[in-house]
Amino acid sequence: MLVTAKEMLTKAKAGKYAVGQFNINNLEWTKAVLLTAEELRSPVILGVSEGAGKYMTGYKTVVGMVKGMLEELKITVPVALHLDHGSYEGCLKCVEAGFSSIMFDGSHDPIEENVAKTKELVKICAEHNMSLEAEVGAIGGEEDGVVGKGECADPEECKRIADLGVTMLAAGIGNIHGVYPENWEGLSFETLKAVSEKTGDMPLVLHGGTGIPADQIKKAISLGVAKINVNTECQLAFAAATRKYIEEGKDKQGKGFDPRKLLLPGTEAIKETVKEKMELFGSIGKA
Ligand code: 13P
Repeated sequence: MLVTAKEMLTKAKAGKYAVGQFNINNLEWTKAVLLTAEELRSPVILGVSEGAGKYMTGYKTVVGMVKGMLEELKITVPVALHLDHGSYEGCLKCVEAGFSSIMFDGSHDPIEENVAKTKELVKICAEHNMSLEAEVGAIGGEEDGVVGKGECADPEECKRIADLGVTMLAAGIGNIHGVYPENWEGLSFETLKAVSEKTGDMPLVLHGGTGIPADQIKKAISLGVAKINVNTECQLAFAAATRKYIEEGKDKQGKGFDPRKLLLPGTEAIKETVKEKMELFGSIGKA
């Protein structure tokens, strides 16, 4: 059964660990994440970007696939299905399709507009028993083309958005989507501390989980981060394993590649990545 992210994140914040959000792109991705979470008894959040939702032919397909898989694979750990970086319209579509959680990314809008739309969505999510993530201070990298230093959120603005009643809050603290550049300055713990102080019990979300050194991840968790998003690292692992399989020329019979066999090494590589992250985030055995 799908659950909202509320209970798992409240427990994570209190227990000083973080729940991983792993972005999914297809059936293999989803299966790899769910099987690993079940095996390790970890709560998990499946992230779906608007692009990935479109690729999978729409949010209703995603809901159907995930719900079917939870049943067929007999998954018993808490699983939330969450829209990642949603537009206001995208959020409404996911509410209708049956997601259990959404993120509204109003970080590029003027703060008044971010507040107004987030407020509206707080109401809608309450009516549908869903969790809501809001964002303050855009996260650098692919998201907005900023390279070298991620943007840092204003703690006062974070408090304003948190007080609207969202479930979890993503605050830019120098984090960047994708691979971190050589000259990255690291996370701004000063910003994180200030945001934490202003927002109290609010579970904080760290985007751009790929490639952040382990000590910085641990410190971020100790300062209130309870959800960490990982996408690129799974993609890199999947691509490398698939490439290796093709280069080794495993289609010995000359019949071309059996798609199920072709996708297997990549699926296994995602499982390994998810396992490593769950170990680092401390969520194993918390389901
Ligand atoms: P990475 O691709 O850097 O892991 O970031 C994922 C993310 O934050 C999705 O919202």
